[in-house]
Amino acid sequence: MRILFVCLGNICRSPIADGWMRHKVASENLKWVIDSAGTESYHVGEAPHPQSQRVCRENGLDISGLRARQFRASDFEQFDLIYAMSSDVLEEIRQLAGPRIKSGQLRLFLDEDPQTQGQSVTDPWYGPPEGYDAVFQVIAQGGEAIFQTCLLADRAR
Ligand code: 4NP
Repeated sequence: MRILFVCLGNICRSPIADGWMRHKVASENLKWVIDSAGTESYHVGEAPHPQSQRVCRENGLDISGLRARQFRASDFEQFDLIYAMSSDVLEEIRQLAGPRIKSGQLRLFLDEDPQTQGQSVTDPWYGPPEGYDAVFQVIAQGGEAIFQTCLLADRAR
């Protein structure tokens, strides 16, 4: 499985999802490809936001080596599943993609868990440091649901 997580800047939300899933996949001895990107270019080349790094570190994850990159159209060929962290990001990717998207390839991050379907991961960029702790919990829960979905898809191939 090749899974991409996308937010706006690729410094707050999607690096947490990226780091969480890399860790999960490694602990399960799976050889999946995990990556993240942003629809905007403002932070290209930057490490994840210090608060995203902190909350990951406090939860046993090191995301300090990740670097922001911009989403590109070729990602539709490189990844089986593309998860948008929020509905605005999903819409932006849909418009960039046009007919390139395969059915079911582009999804909303919180859609795999019936309890959070249709919801967006709040952008912590505009809020206080504690916002990153709440976002981590939401991403970890959504990540579990995504992992189970991908495990089934992988086994069905
Ligand atoms: P992210 O958060 O999309 O979760 O990485 C943001 C980071 C930076 C900006 C917006 C959102 N920005 O406007 O620079």
